[in-house]
Amino acid sequence: MRILALDQGTTNTKALVVDGAGKILATASAPCATRYPKPGWAEQSAEDIWATTSHVIAQVAPHGPFDAIAIANQRETLVTWDAETGAPTGPAPLWQCRRSTEICAALAAKGHGGRVEELTGLALNPLFPASKLAWVLAHHPGAQALAATGRLRAGTVDSWLLWNLTGGAAFATDHSNASRTTLFDTGTLEWSAELAEIFGVPLSVLPEALASDARFGVTAAGRTALPAGIPILAIMGDSHAALYGHGLREGGTLKVTYGTGSSMMMPVSARAKAPRGLSASIAWTENGTTRHAIEANITVSGQAAAFAARMMGLEDAAALADLAAGVETADGVVFVPALAGLGAPYWDDEARGVISGLSLGTTPAHLARATFEAIAHQVADVVDALTRELGTPVAEIRADGGASSNAWLMQLQADILGCPVGVSPIAEVGALGVAAMAARALGEEVSWTGGPVARHAPRLPEADRSEQRQSWARAVEQARRKGP
Ligand code: G3P
Repeated sequence: MRILALDQGTTNTKALVVDGAGKILATASAPCATRYPKPGWAEQSAEDIWATTSHVIAQVAPHGPFDAIAIANQRETLVTWDAETGAPTGPAPLWQCRRSTEICAALAAKGHGGRVEELTGLALNPLFPASKLAWVLAHHPGAQALAATGRLRAGTVDSWLLWNLTGGAAFATDHSNASRTTLFDTGTLEWSAELAEIFGVPLSVLPEALASDARFGVTAAGRTALPAGIPILAIMGDSHAALYGHGLREGGTLKVTYGTGSSMMMPVSARAKAPRGLSASIAWTENGTTRHAIEANITVSGQAAAFAARMMGLEDAAALADLAAGVETADGVVFVPALAGLGAPYWDDEARGVISGLSLGTTPAHLARATFEAIAHQVADVVDALTRELGTPVAEIRADGGASSNAWLMQLQADILGCPVGVSPIAEVGALGVAAMAARALGEEVSWTGGPVARHAPRLPEADRSEQRQSWARAVEQARRKGP
């Protein structure tokens, strides 16, 4: 059995060929450019997203034939296109894009925030596609007219890839991606007419929302290097696919993907109200059962290390890590990297970065160490919020993503959290996760999710941990203090 897993991320589009034992037989990757045309705006070309996808497919195609295709994708980025020509109506506003801030502020002022959160588990925020779609309808030339004539298609990246792979035959998304749009009622598993009215967008332009392990469609001839007829059998947002790949199905264990920011997700047994400062989403729907998850997004984590490295004239974050590993403590220095406000659990756009505790004894190594401690403290803040709000402690975290390969940082994370950190040996845990779901949809026995992890047990005495957590909390207060 061979599965072609596509992982369309913000910075790279990847293709992996996975066999029935979960072994990765071939990989290909192509970078995807992001443009920042105005402060707070971020966008990608939907044509580029598709071009990089068909490029990586061509690179791994000789490793076929494939029994199925699985797709994991960057979430919340909105693609709008003309169903007749296949041409996007304009650049795709990226998940990070804040261009619809004013739309959200106006809706919040009218008191819609509570209802949006009730139906979707998400805040009324420009991150999510609903307000992006309202913006596109108002600003992309011709978008309104296409919507009026039934030709406009609006979907997340998975829908765009599926539509292209199937030659326009399938226009669908899965429940995990739909749950991140603020247009999907996560209780009824349907697009919400009420939310569409709130955001002023037509439901008719949205894809069909299917289970994550649905038979989404089959490849069309001549669209890529693949032959016609290969079924697309699994789709999940990338964070959800990583959760699946870690084999996490019940609460108590939290997955942390360390990237530019940190994306944290924990399965919960039933649809729940989002705890304060966190969001609730659908993890996935498989075998007719929908699983839910609590999610927290930390805005700046790995990016803090890149930032500090640049400030100190070091080559990169790896050089900063080498410097940091040379000292046992940060000697009282605390760095709060609120470089783009603070994300979960604070959601404070006004917060600004702070370095506190400097003395004549401070060296660059202390500041470097404080930067990595900040990455760990931010994760610990979310864990504390989860414990407080759900009333049950987080027993363990599972780590993946770039920084998780740094064993020193993972030990630091376990020490600051006071609970074990298990690191997946597989870098591509999301792609492998969605491939596993496709394999199961084919009726295969899959034993390669939730495999063995390198475990880091906490070693720091509790009194020291508690003191560090308190100094961090004081510095966060400083970062959030408005005015001089
Ligand atoms: O929510 C956005 C997220 O899905 C993007 O993930 O890995 O492409 O940065 P990534």
